[in-house]
Amino acid sequence: MPPTIAFIGSGNLGRTIAQLAAEAGFDVVLSNSRGPETLTDLVAELPGHARATTPAQAAQAADLVVVSLPFHAMEQLPAEALAGKTVIDTMHYFPDRDGRLAELDERRTTSSELLQRRLPDSPIVKTLSSMDFIRMYSGARPIGHPERSALPVTGNDAEAKAEVARFMDTIGYDAVDIGSLADSWRHEAGIPMNVLPYIGEPPKGMNQEQAHDWVYNGPSAVVSASHVRELTDQATRTGRVGLFPEDLFPVDK
Ligand SMILES: NC(=O)c1ccc[n+]([C@@H]2O[C@H](COP(=O)([O-])OP(=O)(O)OC[C@H]3O[C@@H](n4cnc5c(N)ncnc54)[C@H](OP(=O)(O)O)[C@@H]3O)[C@@H](O)[C@H]2O)c1
Repeated sequence: MPPTIAFIGSGNLGRTIAQLAAEAGFDVVLSNSRGPETLTDLVAELPGHARATTPAQAAQAADLVVVSLPFHAMEQLPAEALAGKTVIDTMHYFPDRDGRLAELDERRTTSSELLQRRLPDSPIVKTLSSMDFIRMYSGARPIGHPERSALPVTGNDAEAKAEVARFMDTIGYDAVDIGSLADSWRHEAGIPMNVLPYIGEPPKGMNQEQAHDWVYNGPSAVVSASHVRELTDQATRTGRVGLFPEDLFPVDK
């Protein structure tokens, strides 16, 4: 029997990881907020035995569950159905989208620690969140490929991190363990590790609109495991929390 992986949230990023998983031979179970009937087209596009269901049923269908929602929607996650399941947290906190959370704005905790608090019986592993969904798909490479990229991983449970690293291996990425959920700010949105290393060197003198376009349509770059380590080691917890990648570019206003 092929392994099964479930998704709560099947938007841009969730469906991209689902596509990579289905191509790697996983049976994929998808869910969203509007109901399984809205995922019929996506299910039909995926190879293998993909299906769609409700979030609670998706959680029950697999031992590994990818949660890929706007961060504010994590309050609606089915905690009971997720108990005992390893949860991959791909979410970022963007105050402009998610509403302000003082604990995060004041850097007293991390978004993944808040998720762990919401799902106390599910080991949380934050990863697959450092690239935009377009490059996530186009950048996947088999083990040993010279253009294979690495992604940072954080979590409190070593076994869960190892399980997630094996999954990442099969879908095309090396996992770099950079610590616990308390360390996960090192790859949150607004930290230079997020998105920027995976895109080509931006030309100088772009305006805000050109910078936005470069983030989503510019070229890709390969990021090695040692580069991930270097970037996350050097990260500093300063500046505003939850900035978009283009906010970090030096742009002409
Ligand atoms: N997009 C990227 O490139 C990228 C990269 C790194 C990290 N991220 C992070 O990953 C997360 C997902 O981003 P995205 O771009 O994929 O968002 P998106 O395209 O807006 O998709 C969000 C998904 O979450 C579902 N959803 C919302 N509320 C839900 C609920 N209460 N229960 C179940 N499903 C719910 C939506 O379902 P409905 O459509 O039915 O409402 C949709 O399938 C965000 O936290 C984002 O910051 C995204």
